[in-house]
Amino acid sequence: MIAEYIRLNIPVKDEEFDKIYPVQLQKLSGRHFTKVAVAIKAARFLATQPNQKILDIGCGPGKFCFIAGSYNNASYTGVDYRKHFIELCTKLSHKHHFKNVNFIHADIKEIDFCYYNGFYFFNSFQEHIDKSAQLDDTIETSIEKFNDYTAYLKKEWGKLPAGTRIATYHAYLNQVPSSYKLIDMHFDGLLKCWEKVTDR
Ligand SMILES: C[S@@+](CC[C@H](N)C(=O)[O-])C[C@H]1O[C@@H](n2cnc3c(N)ncnc32)[C@H](O)[C@@H]1O
Repeated sequence: MIAEYIRLNIPVKDEEFDKIYPVQLQKLSGRHFTKVAVAIKAARFLATQPNQKILDIGCGPGKFCFIAGSYNNASYTGVDYRKHFIELCTKLSHKHHFKNVNFIHADIKEIDFCYYNGFYFFNSFQEHIDKSAQLDDTIETSIEKFNDYTAYLKKEWGKLPAGTRIATYHAYLNQVPSSYKLIDMHFDGLLKCWEKVTDR
């Protein structure tokens, strides 16, 4: 039902959407998960064609993927190193008939970026430098990990062909390689839309 509302462009409030989650996750949603309007805006930017493959880097309990996959017909893959989130994503996608989504339990470093045409990144590494960004205490955090993951992402994004798109939310400007051009901003600049302009 909720997926159908989004597909039909019927406005859905975040409190309404978040009811798919257990109460403790509903409480975290406002700060840690993508808002419905942001997910729709990012999905519109990332899915330039119906067969696009989009990766959500750190999908958490899947809110971005669920909304984006309901909104258009690109394929949305969520990856997260917290196994309990991936198990929940899989359960919820069946229960609520969310389309165009799949989920992988892995560290982002295990994923081959060349399978994807677009990326969504809600500053997933912030938990390594800001305790208030931690969703739980199941992951060991450190500034070294923040720097390492950030450098890895930049390196992988830098290898992709011109035309690759990235939507960043609450991320830092220097997390995206200079081969990408900032082509749009929304929500007071928090959502940034990037496109790769050179192959190198
Ligand atoms: C802010 S939440 C984003 C939730 C989701 N993208 C959304 O927009 O609703 C960040 C998620 O990134 C995950 N994450 C952080 N670093 C990761 C890594 N190196 N590999 C896989 N997942 C990671 C965390 O476990 C967390 O669930």
